[in-house]
Amino acid sequence: MVSKVLTVLAAIAVPVFGAPGQADPCVAVGGQKWVAPSALRACFQSIPVNATTKSNILEVVTKTLAFDTSINYQIRAPEPFTQDVHENVLADLARIGAQRYASEFDMHIDLSRSVKRLMDGHCVYINACYDSLFLTFLPLPLSVLTDARGQQAVHISPEAFSVASVEFADEISVWQNALPGALKGQLASLSAAKVIAINGADPWVAVNANAQIAGSFQALGTRQNGFFSSYARTDAGWVYSMGQFAQQSLPLNDQAILTVQRVNSTRIETFAIPYRSRIGAATVAFTDKASLIQKNCVATAGTNGVNANANDQPSSKVPGGRFAPIPLISPMQLKKQPISLSLNDAPQSDIVLPPVLQPPAPLAGTGVAQFYTLAGGKTGVLALGSFAEASFDVFETTLLTGLQTLKSSGATQLIVDVTNNGGGFICIAHWLHRIIAGPKSTTVPQAGLDTKARAGPLAQLIVQKIVEGADPNQNLLYNSANWAFANGTKFPPNIDWLQPPVNLTINGHQDSFSQRLGQECQPFDMTAPDEPLFDTSKVAIVSNGRCASSCSLFSITMAKEEGAKMIVFGGNKAVQQEYCGTVGGQSSDFSTMDTEVKTTGLKSNPLAPPDFLTNSVQGITWRLGFGIQNTQQPEEWQDHPADINFPLTADTVNNPLALWTAISKSVFGA
Ligand SMILES: *[C@@H]1O[C@H](CO)[C@@H](O)[C@H](O)[C@H]1NC(C)=O
Ligand SMILES: *[C@@H]1O[C@H](CO)[C@@H](O)[C@H](O)[C@H]1NC(C)=O
Ligand SMILES: *[C@@H]1O[C@H](CO)[C@@H](O)[C@H](O)[C@H]1NC(C)=O
Ligand SMILES: *[C@@H]1O[C@H](CO)[C@@H](O)[C@H](O)[C@H]1NC(C)=O
Repeated sequence: MVSKVLTVLAAIAVPVFGAPGQADPCVAVGGQKWVAPSALRACFQSIPVNATTKSNILEVVTKTLAFDTSINYQIRAPEPFTQDVHENVLADLARIGAQRYASEFDMHIDLSRSVKRLMDGHCVYINACYDSLFLTFLPLPLSVLTDARGQQAVHISPEAFSVASVEFADEISVWQNALPGALKGQLASLSAAKVIAINGADPWVAVNANAQIAGSFQALGTRQNGFFSSYARTDAGWVYSMGQFAQQSLPLNDQAILTVQRVNSTRIETFAIPYRSRIGAATVAFTDKASLIQKNCVATAGTNGVNANANDQPSSKVPGGRFAPIPLISPMQLKKQPISLSLNDAPQSDIVLPPVLQPPAPLAGTGVAQFYTLAGGKTGVLALGSFAEASFDVFETTLLTGLQTLKSSGATQLIVDVTNNGGGFICIAHWLHRIIAGPKSTTVPQAGLDTKARAGPLAQLIVQKIVEGADPNQNLLYNSANWAFANGTKFPPNIDWLQPPVNLTINGHQDSFSQRLGQECQPFDMTAPDEPLFDTSKVAIVSNGRCASSCSLFSITMAKEEGAKMIVFGGNKAVQQEYCGTVGGQSSDFSTMDTEVKTTGLKSNPLAPPDFLTNSVQGITWRLGFGIQNTQQPEEWQDHPADINFPLTADTVNNPLALWTAISKSVFGA
């Protein structure tokens, strides 16, 4: 095993191929599939801070955040999120600018975590030079399980070995051999073991430490849940998410020390197990530091925007590119359909959910939307892993005909499983709400949330240029043709819709926003039924809480307007679970804003972000939804409490059909 030999050399930091005295630690990881995290870290830490690159990154991020709706709110979020969200990101960017770092990697960690403290999955900074260049794994994903006596504890996931032995077939022997004493070669026997301690402390200490740096969701419970394994429905099939204990996007941990009690054993055993880093699917092969930087760390096509008038290739792309957890969407669809989705510095998992845990063949559905009925026939299930699909129109039809199929097969109650659904098309969220609930004041014409955009000085200039004729082909997001007055009437052509701005003082900071915007989805291009498809009091929306963006728009309107039951599974029973987070209203990114700037001829304006020199992404919340209960404040920081925190057991964890059946019995009585 050549790779094993080389990684051992790397781990003891012998410069195998580097010139004498000029050791390049990246040589030892170049060309390898699996490496020790310490070897990868040494490579990353050998890249010095380049003053030009550093100031470029900070300038692009700072100026891009002028388009983000939320950064002043996030300085101190209202209750119930005041404890969770209190980040002054512009102050942190200024601090980072003045701070010295031993390496660019150290600066990256500080910058990435500062932005993550916004707890906003739309507003994330990613640098593909480091984030997920390799993914760092343990073969021991964890779950929170409740036993027959109602006792809740952290366990190694029961399916841990069946997942790891398939996905990591080429590396499993390294872990088998790393286990000490009687455990050597016995990785399988650790599945389902109770975890007494992680690194010598109560497991929740590690869970909460991770929740402090994980970002993406306001609520503590939702960030805790990301530590644990889960499942997701993707376009390609049922996948397994390892959770943030067993899969990390940066090589920061070398090992975990676990204290466990194996199934049917009374013995308490403590062992160390190493993390191992596997090259990312999108990483371009490199041999040393110079080629790592050249092939993975500098801007690529798509990093920056284009002049949509000069460029005959389509200018729109999914915000965040490959870091957006959704299927490929054609540029034409994107131009027509606004998107709201969360970004993640790890790509969506393609680890297969073990076949024994996968639901049987569905009654209907394709891709991310699959329809089932449970035993007895009264409960229908829509498993919906995303609000995006390659074709908007096909997706609309799939959802309507699938729900009609459930109904005609006799289902009178409905479970919608949105586990790990990071959003997608905004108008699919509106469509699904409308067809389930039927036509009524809460669904026609507005089935989602009214919104506002930020009206900073550069945004105001962009709209002014568009009014003057800078966007004849209506390629731009800021074109009034895309948006509507609060009453839902479309803006007339060439209206300067950011004038006059709505001035507000938020957490002591002056800020400006657009007028209130109404819905842009209706009339839908397809006829919706005249009657509700389901009694919404018999609809349960189910997830691990990690439902974001368009998924939040759907869930919030179903909960607060239609009385659907909101169920989060697997959360710590002492912690209030939120049924969604990262609400936003519409997401976007630096590259899209750069296209707006370049197309309107404003690139040389001092407020305009320069091009990124690095292979970086900066996401933003571009529109922010108004609340349903407090209609004048953003929905983003209003409460979304789950009705039920449903316990997972060894039989239901990561087994969607068993879980739906248990939830249906508990919530609907059958
Ligand atoms: C620093 O980065 C700039 C821009 O990428 C590059 O032109 C320059 O050569 C770099 N300097 C060093 C010393 O590597
Ligand atoms: C634990 O013991 C039960 C009851 O004897 C048995 O059914 C089960 O297979 C055992 N599990 C393991 C992992 O040994
Ligand atoms: C909607 O509001 C706009 C702006 O106030 C107004 O001009 C328009 O007439 C209204 N449309 C309807 C149908 O009320
Ligand atoms: C809003 O603020 C801007 C700049 O601070 C100011 O020029 C403008 O007059 C204000 N508009 C209103 C309606 O108060």
